[in-house]
Amino acid sequence: MKNPLKIVVTGAAGFIGYHAVKSLLATGHSVLAIDNLNDYYDAKIKTDRLENIGADKSFCFEQVDVADHRRIVDIFQKYAPSRVLHLAAQAGVRYSIENPFTYIESNIRGHLSILEAVRNTPSIRHLIYASSSSVYGNNTDAPFSEGDRVDKPVSLYAATKRADELMSESYSELYQIPQTGLRFFTVYGPWGRPDMAYWSFTKAILASTPINVYNGGELERDFTYIDDVIQAIIRIVEDVPKNKSNRIYNIGGSHPRNLHEFIDIISSACGKTAICKNYPMQKGDVYCTYADLTKIKEDYHYKPEITLEIGIPKFVNWYKQYHEI
Ligand SMILES: NC(=O)c1ccc[n+]([C@@H]2O[C@H](COP(=O)([O-])OP(=O)(O)OC[C@H]3O[C@@H](n4cnc5c(N)ncnc54)[C@H](O)[C@@H]3O)[C@@H](O)[C@H]2O)c1
Repeated sequence: MKNPLKIVVTGAAGFIGYHAVKSLLATGHSVLAIDNLNDYYDAKIKTDRLENIGADKSFCFEQVDVADHRRIVDIFQKYAPSRVLHLAAQAGVRYSIENPFTYIESNIRGHLSILEAVRNTPSIRHLIYASSSSVYGNNTDAPFSEGDRVDKPVSLYAATKRADELMSESYSELYQIPQTGLRFFTVYGPWGRPDMAYWSFTKAILASTPINVYNGGELERDFTYIDDVIQAIIRIVEDVPKNKSNRIYNIGGSHPRNLHEFIDIISSACGKTAICKNYPMQKGDVYCTYADLTKIKEDYHYKPEITLEIGIPKFVNWYKQYHEI
């Protein structure tokens, strides 16, 4: 390893954070991990993920809320990282309709707290933060590219993610902080999220209970396997952009799939037929997501490799092992 880095990762007990930490440690970097271990979904998988990272002298964990600005500044100044990978957020789309205030606390106040801490920590050379494909709302001009208009969010979650991008833009402008916002497109894989469809469908199909299918299954998602997301994150985290500006990249599979196909692939990986119950389109949901990858391909030679046919069986195998089925 040429240049081992000290990196703060927020949301480290979460799905993407856990994989990012494992991969950064395996690459030879040191990580200070932050998470508040909230119970939006069962916190047991969060502690299991942390346990699975294992003891490593290059790794330490702090249970802290990113919106707790004093503690965040204190941690940043003592640890003196050169990178921050900020993934902590309330991440569910539907829950933002039921519980809007937590989204403002974690995603808006939390993001501001990170921006302020970064600006007061001179060792930090690059802030990388999570945005989302949901900022594209129901744009019809697919594939979605980073230059498209993104001012019609259909959920509060999407609005907070777009607000984060704009706050970052202002901080780069004001304080010349190099930043990169990553618009992730439906990420799935082992150690994934219990609130997402691939998890609840797998659970229901294995238990022979019905799955909820919205809008007659006429939805398309650009699924992205976790390893493909992590290859992009590592390249971007190791880099320091030349311009001290706020850049945005799509990270997707760039191959949207229909919900019916998705259900068939999960059913066949589970070896059982899905029992489908139809429901109307849900509030906050979008019809289609589809990433244009031109920009990240050009700058980071990013190339997603794992199709649903390969990735879903990997998830289902992990799910069965984890639940001892
Ligand atoms: N997984 C996806 O498909 C997807 C898609 C688009 C964007 N994203 C974004 O990527 C990031 C990571 O998502 P994920 O799928 O790993 O979600 P996740 O919910 O598994 O992980 C988020 C982690 O952040 C922690 N957290 C939440 N609020 C916090 C706070 N105020 N302080 C400290 N920790 C806090 C949670 O406890 C959780 O462990 C999020 O910002 C999410 O919005 C994810």
